[in-house]
Amino acid sequence: MLFSYNAFKRIPFYSALILFAVSWGATALSVDNALDSARRRLAENYELSQLRSMTPQQIMEQLTEEECAAFANEHIRFQINCPAKVYVLYDSRFEEKGPFEAFWLKDHAFERTDVQVSSDGDYFVGYARDFDAGAVGLGINSFSGNYLHYFIAVQPLRKEDTLTISGIYPQSIRTAAFQKGVRPYTHPEWQPIDSYSPALEGATLLQVDARWRRTTKLLDFFAETDYPASPRPDNIILTWSSDPRYTQSILWRTSEESRQGAVAYMKKKDYRHFTPGAPVIKEAQSLRHESIHLLNQPVIYTHTATLTDLEPDTSYVYAVGDGSSDGWSALNEFTTAPDKEAPFSFIYMGDVQVGYPRWRSLLERAWQDQPNARFYMLAGDNVNRGVDRNEWDAFFAHTTGVFDHRVVVPALGNHEYIGGDPTLFEDFFVLPENGPENIAPEHCFSFEYSNALFVIVDTNLLPEEYVGWLDETLGQSHAVWKFVMMHHPLYSSGINRDNVWLRDTLLPVFDRHHVDMVLQGHDHAYLRTGPMRDNQKAERPADGTYYVVSVSGTKLYKLADRPYADVAYEHLSTYQVIDLQLNPPRLVYRSFDVDGNMKDEVIIEK
Ligand SMILES: [Fe+2]
Repeated sequence: MLFSYNAFKRIPFYSALILFAVSWGATALSVDNALDSARRRLAENYELSQLRSMTPQQIMEQLTEEECAAFANEHIRFQINCPAKVYVLYDSRFEEKGPFEAFWLKDHAFERTDVQVSSDGDYFVGYARDFDAGAVGLGINSFSGNYLHYFIAVQPLRKEDTLTISGIYPQSIRTAAFQKGVRPYTHPEWQPIDSYSPALEGATLLQVDARWRRTTKLLDFFAETDYPASPRPDNIILTWSSDPRYTQSILWRTSEESRQGAVAYMKKKDYRHFTPGAPVIKEAQSLRHESIHLLNQPVIYTHTATLTDLEPDTSYVYAVGDGSSDGWSALNEFTTAPDKEAPFSFIYMGDVQVGYPRWRSLLERAWQDQPNARFYMLAGDNVNRGVDRNEWDAFFAHTTGVFDHRVVVPALGNHEYIGGDPTLFEDFFVLPENGPENIAPEHCFSFEYSNALFVIVDTNLLPEEYVGWLDETLGQSHAVWKFVMMHHPLYSSGINRDNVWLRDTLLPVFDRHHVDMVLQGHDHAYLRTGPMRDNQKAERPADGTYYVVSVSGTKLYKLADRPYADVAYEHLSTYQVIDLQLNPPRLVYRSFDVDGNMKDEVIIEK
């Protein structure tokens, strides 16, 4: 029963919270700081098994007054210019299935109303309270991260008032008139509101970021890494952060016993001499990472070195070291890009996300069957929860022997954002910083390799944020072949999925610059279109753009019947090899399963 949460009732300081709420201001603890202090205290005082069995009540009992006040008031704030009723529209499943964690609603005297909103089969219940003109502070969605995040409606109490909402925090919240067809969340991937109670007619909607539901987790938050780092370098990967002809970036990790690192490298042909000369030593930049939730190894160091002034089309051998004379890794190698048009091939894979050992088999199959592929492109959702270092530990552990020999080019999927900002993605890959100026570096970037352009975009962002840059980047390139890699597909394969918002914005750009192939993920079922132009099948392959959705991990979705599909499969993980030939220019695209069986093939002649 709602609000019969005894543990909450018997904690005496809640009555003081309302007073505290009224006086919140510059000195209040932020939700981020409250989470940090609460998580540290829990990690220090309890074993993993105890933390995993804690109920919301037990979690609440561990919190200080200041932390509770932050969780109750500081999640969302805004100012209203007139008296108004504020509706917090909560996912109804919180009531049906378990303890209601939004303790602050009661303490702020919010009352459950009959007001309901539905959106795409999800139902939201209105909790309402009248506010005078001035400050409104709202609390967290939950400690569990379950279900959808609430959104907000504000209705002036007097008909003659014109409501103005200002000082909104976080600033990414958007306001809109509450009506059918408007989305409750800021990202256009979300479905719109399809019905609502009459009381909300004329109200102002505050659209929130749906991802915030998982940013305040204290329940089921702690874990251990199955792949702890040691003082010796491991999880070594190659990326590009600059021109592939002349530079090579190398990343690895160690435990906190090794806080510095270096790369030793030389040309492979020099190393083959009977008495090879001394290698070049390049010092790495070392960065401390703390993941409070990993009880068995909260701290690791990552080390990054970008080798410059390399010779094009040249193989090098390298080792990474922990700073001690005998602390070098085994010898690996890389090859720089050619500085003239040359044939080459590369691998593209869709979502990894879950099932790393099985994915490793597919990766090994690609590595063994396509030894000449020069780099590997991953279309996002490389891990399941982007904020969890233990997932990245496991992911990288399964790339050993491949990504330390071949460059990996990753895109950001929605799962890289799960739990918070994708800072681990940003830190664990060093990528070109040539994207749009208005967004964080490494989210969108491009590079050229031989006669091909590769543009990688982060479709978690609003398309308006990068479409201008994408248009310009595709337009300025003189490459023969143009590829775009992005996570959310323009042409979906999964059931109930259709990213119209993405197609509306990007399709004209891809058509205008005749992108040859768009490499995508997200839907976990294989689909390849024929050549598409103007949202219709083009007559000749050379006239249109091919769109591919593929999956490489073990999470597989059912396939929808799509008129634009040329080839489609469900329950199939694949890797793709794209072979770019010269004289005449020819693209040979092939898709293979884990056993090496060819599942799809396309040949495009320019
Ligand atoms: Fe996804």
